[in-house]
Amino acid sequence: MSIAFLDGSYMPIEQAKISPLDRGFLFGDGIYEVVPSYAGKMVGFAPHVLRMKSGLEAIGIKLDWSMDDWSELCQRLIAENGAGNLGIYLHVSRGADNKRHHAFPENIAPTVFAFTFEIAAAPIADKAKVKPYKVSTTRDLRWERCHIKSTALLGNVLHFQQGYEQGNDETLLFNADNQLTEASACNAFIVIDGTVITPPLDNQLLPGITRQIVLDVLRKDGRIKVEERSVSMDEVMSADEVWITSSSKEIAPVTEVDGKAVGNGEIGDIWLATQTLYSAGKFDY
Ligand code: PDD
Repeated sequence: MSIAFLDGSYMPIEQAKISPLDRGFLFGDGIYEVVPSYAGKMVGFAPHVLRMKSGLEAIGIKLDWSMDDWSELCQRLIAENGAGNLGIYLHVSRGADNKRHHAFPENIAPTVFAFTFEIAAAPIADKAKVKPYKVSTTRDLRWERCHIKSTALLGNVLHFQQGYEQGNDETLLFNADNQLTEASACNAFIVIDGTVITPPLDNQLLPGITRQIVLDVLRKDGRIKVEERSVSMDEVMSADEVWITSSSKEIAPVTEVDGKAVGNGEIGDIWLATQTLYSAGKFDY
């Protein structure tokens, strides 16, 4: 049984209860994070919390928590839940009002909820051991503020489900100009002629922490060229490698897009080099 945190108290997750008038429940009016932790060591704790703070500011939720407060919460949840391979889920909603009204209520306290869930062991940089992913593609029909890590995830859920029902693991999303944005729950990368390319940060995609670490380890290493620029559908379909990244997956190699093999259908050498750098450097973030 996992131990959760809700509004100042730790408790078995089954005992955590919120009001049905909580705006997270009624409107998806909140911000969340997922921080990975392996054997008690978190990856990207500071950037995850900073992204959450900027999300809260973007939607006008005031929560007076310091980095130390978040750190103490995460450390306690890790300890309470066995310190294995954990995703730490952090969630702040605008709170519960006494009525349903779209305008932000005054004088309500945000609801703070956190729990952990088991994630797969950290991926190993080994072509024979990593899971190859298959993805679908579709037009990105979410909202125009995808840089905010909102708990209102229906658009993402519907896109994920679309790929899932086609027997795939994820769905790559393309805007009206047929440019890649991201995937339903991951950022996306392609490799062409040895260069790693990913769409630039804007309102169309989440500024992923894994994305940021991947770019950073590659730039520090310096051997592989990196570009942040628009990526067309044609480039995705003819790329040598395609990857999707997220906190729980790290860098997942994609070997099939819409049933068509990526490159020669094998996991690529640039993936191997990048996952090797990521595995070696991730605990520095
Ligand atoms: N998903 N893009 C979207 C839409 C996401 O939901 C996520 C993460 C990412 C990758 O971000 P990061 O590298 O910071 O995990 C990109 C999380 C893990 C989830 O919703 O469970």
